[in-house]
Amino acid sequence: MKILVTGSSGLIGSQAVKYFGQQGHEIIGVDNNLRKFFFGEVGDTSWNLAALKKLPIKFTHYDTDIRDRAKVNELIKISKPDAVIHCAAQPSHDLAAKIPFEDFDTNAGGTLNLLEATRQHCKESPFVFLSTNKVYGDAPNELELIETDTRWDYRSEKFKHGIDETMRIDQTKHSLFGASKTAADVFTQEYGLYFNMPTVCFRGGCLTGPAHSSAELHGFLSYLIKCAVIGKSYTIFGYKGKQVRDQIHSYDVVTAIEQFIKNPKCGKVYNMGGGKENSISVLECINMLSKKYGHNLNYSVSAENRIGDHICYYSDLRKFKTDYPTWGLSYNLDKIFDEIVEAQLQLNS
Ligand SMILES: NC(=O)c1ccc[n+]([C@@H]2O[C@H](COP(=O)([O-])OP(=O)(O)OC[C@H]3O[C@@H](n4cnc5c(N)ncnc54)[C@H](O)[C@@H]3O)[C@@H](O)[C@H]2O)c1
Repeated sequence: MKILVTGSSGLIGSQAVKYFGQQGHEIIGVDNNLRKFFFGEVGDTSWNLAALKKLPIKFTHYDTDIRDRAKVNELIKISKPDAVIHCAAQPSHDLAAKIPFEDFDTNAGGTLNLLEATRQHCKESPFVFLSTNKVYGDAPNELELIETDTRWDYRSEKFKHGIDETMRIDQTKHSLFGASKTAADVFTQEYGLYFNMPTVCFRGGCLTGPAHSSAELHGFLSYLIKCAVIGKSYTIFGYKGKQVRDQIHSYDVVTAIEQFIKNPKCGKVYNMGGGKENSISVLECINMLSKKYGHNLNYSVSAENRIGDHICYYSDLRKFKTDYPTWGLSYNLDKIFDEIVEAQLQLNS
């Protein structure tokens, strides 16, 4: 297959390039390192690109900006990929409020450019969009919670597996990032349902792994581990540090993408994260770093939470597992931590 990957130098994109490239597929990567513009030097993804270029795989990289409609159209017209994996994004909800046009133009406009070019030139090719749990805005915060010493959790049995895809996406505070991703999510569904194209939205929880160019405003777990390893102080914003996230390694995201590409359906939506088994609060992450690795994070807890931030979120994975029963997580929290700690030690040695 010929597979077009946008955001190919980022966390998920680079894992997709590596994974499918090593299977012998021809990969077209699209990434203009806009993450460096978003987050400064720490967001630079060129090291990932350099590593991908050294691999013995069929990989061609284009420095194309997905906001450039004509160039996106031309690239897809000429290459006619057998699958599109769209990972390029402005990924931070806090940053979006400072750069609303850049955020919208990349997240919503860029996605539409890719969808329409795919419809024009390779309509039958599976189109995978990396969406986000921020499409649900802060609606999950309306659920009744219980508080333990280290975390928040859902009180109702109904949510014991986490948040499923029936959570509403309307009339909830998304952040501008959540709003632009929701636009892209709905457009991706619409191209599937209206034009019968094989499209999917994976609504991600916390996607993580050693290939994240983590910054304070994006890449939570990798950034927290980096701070612990290099001795940088860390601020927890609100919720007493008991806010819960589900962690999924980029490898497991890519194997889910593979399942969809092998057996695509039209206009599907799946929550995709580490689920309950890989859910962990900020305080629990800090404890684990200290107990297991001896890295004591110097942190403070600010009373103010980030606007619209989830208090407790973990993905209910049952819909995806029902449709694709051979898929499962191969990385538990221990393995995820081991890899990121090791990567941060190497990067900062
Ligand atoms: N990482 C997470 O925790 C998380 C959670 C939920 C959803 N997601 C979604 O998953 C996708 C991948 O996330 P990630 O963590 O790999 O992000 P990332 O920032 O590591 O990678 C995205 C890449 O896209 C590139 N890019 C950004 N704008 C571009 C543009 N206009 N043109 C070309 N390239 C551009 C960046 O330079 C970067 O290398 C994104 O859509 C993100 O919204 C991520």
